[in-house]
Amino acid sequence: MQRTPGALFVVLEGGDGAGKSTQAARLATHLQERGREVVRTREPGGTPIGEKLRSLVLDHGHGEVDARTEALLFAAARAAHVEQLILPALARGATVICDRYIDSSVAYQGVGRGLGTEQVLAVNRWATGGLRPDLTILLDVDPRAGRDRRTQGDATEDRLESEPDSFHARIRQAFLDRAGNEDGAYLVLDASLAVEDLAGQICAAVDALGHPEGSTP
Ligand code: TYD
Repeated sequence: MQRTPGALFVVLEGGDGAGKSTQAARLATHLQERGREVVRTREPGGTPIGEKLRSLVLDHGHGEVDARTEALLFAAARAAHVEQLILPALARGATVICDRYIDSSVAYQGVGRGLGTEQVLAVNRWATGGLRPDLTILLDVDPRAGRDRRTQGDATEDRLESEPDSFHARIRQAFLDRAGNEDGAYLVLDASLAVEDLAGQICAAVDALGHPEGSTP
């Protein structure tokens, strides 16, 4: 499937409680006000099969889920997501704003579960046909601050979120390593900044990617 000029694939990454969904919503509104078609989506999920895989891999009560099974469930959900939702949107020239993508699997399964960065990258490159984001925004969050934020109002934690702070500290470092080493484009922001500051920086970075003539009013 061909990408239409002007299409953009933007990913938000970061630890649990980093505020990704708030920023995804702000960015979507910013772009829609400028006449862009925006598709806001998340992983795991985004398709009927992906939502089923999401509940299999995240809900408590499915018994033991070993690390490889976990990694493959995330990768399977991602394959469906790319094929059924992301590529068709990019072919229409839309901007896709995706909450989490391959770097989450590298951080949580590759590093957090110890499966290895290269192995997890290889499985996911195959699953996605090598589709890479045009920009990845990493909201860098202190694990303790992230836990405080996500458990506000007594919200229950899923299987991954309920891992100890030491697990989340390794995830944090893994995301920073990805942003430092990858040849892709990254914007790393301190998630403790005010919502408005973060939104301003994110919108400016996405605007700076430029919209080829004719794609934006
Ligand atoms: P998320 O949807 O961000 O959580 P929330 O329930 O707050 O919306 O992500 C769900 C969890 O899945 C999160 O703890 C990170 C984990 N995850 C992985 O371990 N690997 C992956 O590849 C992805 C996409 C998520």
